[in-house]
Amino acid sequence: MNDPRALAARVIARLQDDRGSLQRLLPWAEKQVDEKDRALLRELCYGTARFAPRLELILGKLSRKPVKDGELAALMLVGLYQLEYTRVPDHAAIAATVEAARALKLGHATGVVNGVLRNSLRNKEALTRKLSGNPQFSSAHPAWLQQAIKAAWGEDARTIFTANNSNPPMTLRVNVSKSSRSDYLQQLSDAGIAATPCEFAASGITLEQPLAVSKLPGFDRGLVSVQDESAQLAAQLLAPQAGEKVLDACAAPGGKTCHLLELQPDLNLTALDVEEERLDRVIENLERIGAGAEIICADAAEPEHWWDGEQYDRILLDAPCSATGVIRRNPDIKLLRRAEDIPELAALQGKILRAMWRLLKPGGTLLYATCSILPEENSAQVARFVAETGDARDNTPQLLNEKPWGQPQEAGMQLLPGIHGGDGFYYAKLEKLVPES
Ligand SMILES: C[S@@+](CC[C@H](N)C(=O)[O-])C[C@H]1O[C@@H](n2cnc3c(N)ncnc32)[C@H](O)[C@@H]1O
Repeated sequence: MNDPRALAARVIARLQDDRGSLQRLLPWAEKQVDEKDRALLRELCYGTARFAPRLELILGKLSRKPVKDGELAALMLVGLYQLEYTRVPDHAAIAATVEAARALKLGHATGVVNGVLRNSLRNKEALTRKLSGNPQFSSAHPAWLQQAIKAAWGEDARTIFTANNSNPPMTLRVNVSKSSRSDYLQQLSDAGIAATPCEFAASGITLEQPLAVSKLPGFDRGLVSVQDESAQLAAQLLAPQAGEKVLDACAAPGGKTCHLLELQPDLNLTALDVEEERLDRVIENLERIGAGAEIICADAAEPEHWWDGEQYDRILLDAPCSATGVIRRNPDIKLLRRAEDIPELAALQGKILRAMWRLLKPGGTLLYATCSILPEENSAQVARFVAETGDARDNTPQLLNEKPWGQPQEAGMQLLPGIHGGDGFYYAKLEKLVPES
C-alpha cells in the first residue's frame, strides 16, 4: 500500500493507540510511499496530529455514533485536516480520502467518509459557532493540557497555544570549536541561505526558511547542528571548564553532549542514558562533530550500578519530561501524553535529581533542565528539592548576555513558547555548598 492519505491515517491511528511516536512511525510510513508523496505524507501526519483535539470534536458532531474502527476514524481526521488547513481543493481532498478508504480495505465505509467530509463543508459555519466556546476546540489542545497550561500561565496561555499550533523555525548551532558564528553566517550568505543570529544562544542561528541538512555548508563535517535556541542554553548555562569531570545524565540523542564538547573540548565527559538504542544516536552525533565521550547505558537513578565513586564537577540533568514545551516540533505529544503521566514523571525526575546530587562535588554545579512548561516538573520540583536539601542553592542567573531572558520562578527560570522566542524550556542552576569547616 502506498497511498499517502491511507498511510497518514495508519500513523494517526497508531499514535492514538500509543503504538509509537511520529519520530518512529513517519520513517516507517515514508518508506512505503513514492518520493513525490513524501512531503504530503509528512504534512498530513504532522498537521492532523497538531489539530487532532479540534478535529476530533468536529468528527464527534458529524457522526451519528462513535466511529469504532481506529483507522477509519483516523482517516476522517486526515480528511477533515485537508479541508480545514490545506490548499488541496475540496473536491480533490474528498475524492482522494475516499480512495484511501479503499486502500485501507475499508471499501464498505466509503459512503460514510464521503458523507462526513461533505457535511463538514456544508455545516462549517454552524459547527464553528457551536464549538467555539469549547476550550479544547479554540486551543486545539486536549482538555487536560489546555487546563494545565491555563492554570499555570493565565493570560499567556493563549499565546502558548498559538505557538504550539504553528510550524517552528529551523535553528542551527554553530560548532564553535571549528568556526565562529559570524564566519558561518557568511558561509550561509555565500550559499544564498538567509539567516539571523539568535538573541540569547551565543552559537545559535535561525534560518529564514527550513531546509534539508544536506544543503547546509559543512553539515557532514560537523560545522553545524540543528538545535532550538532554548535547548542551546543548557551548555551555555552549565559553562564547563577545561579539565573538569562532567556528567550528562540523560544524554540521548546527544544534542547537549555535543554542545558541551564544542564549547569546551578538554572535558572528561560521560554521557549516560537508560535507552541503548537512543545512545547509538549520541555516538553518531559525536562522530559527526569529531568529539568523544565515555558512553554508559544505565539508570541515572541507580548510580550504585555504574558510578566510579569520584564526584563530578558539573552535572547536566536534562530530565525525562512531558515535552509540553516542544509541542510545536512534536505535535504528537497532544495525542501521546495523558494527565496521569505528569505526577509519574515528576516522581521520576525527583528520584534522579536526588541521586545525581550525591554524585556532585561540594562547590560543583548541577543544571536541572526540562522541555516542559508544567510547574509540577519544574519550579515546584526544584523549589521542593532546594527546601529539603541543606547544601543546595538555586543560582540560576537572572540575566543572559546582560539581558533578562525568561520568566523567573520561585526556583529557576521558565521559557515559554511564543513568549521567549524558542521552545518551552525550564532551567535551574543549582550549586552544592561547601561545608563550613
Ligand atoms: C529530554 S531527553 C534528553 C535529550 C538530550 N539531553 C539531548 O539534548 O539530546 C531525556 C532522556 O532521558 C532518558 N532517560 C529516561 N529515564 C532515564 C533514567 N532513569 N536514567 C537515564 N536516562 C533516562 C531518555 O531515554 C531520554 O533519552
